Amino acid sequence: MRRPMMAGNWKMYKDVNEAATLVNDIKRVVFDINNVDIVVIPPFVDLSDVGEMLIESNILLGAQNCFWEDEGAFTGEVSAKMLKSVRCVYVTIGHSERRKYFGETDKTVNRRIKSVLDNGLIPIVCVGETLEEREGAKTMEVVRTQVSGALKDLSEEYIDSAIIAYEPVWAIGTGRTATPGQAQEVHAMIRELLKEMYSSSLSEGKRILYGGSVKPENVEDLMKEKDIDGGLIGGASLKADSFATLVQTTSEVYS
Ligand code: PGA
Repeated sequence: MRRPMMAGNWKMYKDVNEAATLVNDIKRVVFDINNVDIVVIPPFVDLSDVGEMLIESNILLGAQNCFWEDEGAFTGEVSAKMLKSVRCVYVTIGHSERRKYFGETDKTVNRRIKSVLDNGLIPIVCVGETLEEREGAKTMEVVRTQVSGALKDLSEEYIDSAIIAYEPVWAIGTGRTATPGQAQEVHAMIRELLKEMYSSSLSEGKRILYGGSVKPENVEDLMKEKDIDGGLIGGASLKADSFATLVQTTSEVYS
């Protein structure tokens, strides 16, 4: 059975003080859960402090992006190597907001994934279609292209640890969640694609998270779907009690 993950993507919310409060609150409410990988993904400036606060806890640290070189004259960028030095374990790559506002493409996603893996971190590779693409019946084609582009020329052993997150753009931050059936259909397609590209053992073991307006009211039905292995959570991860409910519900579905 695949171990589920609940990852809170804080986006550009929470300064250092607010981050410290939120992490303390989350620690207090999820400390006894041990069958879910719990991850917080704060903004860069919070990572060092939050990383220290998570030592000896059951919560792991992630970052929201990174550049593909380890160091150099790249003003404003942060490398995977640097993220590792502040105790990051995960890095989300290719989030739809990066694709939409910052020119991220499947090619740059692929380069970033390489750098994350070369530095011994785990990429959470985000894919998903826009509303226009869904309404034009292009969902499967778009997601297929994104997954194969992201993993292009990367070997099975190399991407063993990588995680995929399916996040339909029309469901992110809109309150409009994909139905469990809509999400499951795409997750199953991604798993089938991974089998084609690699092997059935890689495909069966690969964790595929769902993201897009996951909240306490819909998490149980989503997590019960066979190919959904956890969630990448935006809005509902910014409050300790709602994030804790998502983690607890997932824990119950999997126990
Ligand atoms: P949301 O964001 O839960 O606020 O829809 C999800 C995400 O962008 O990862």
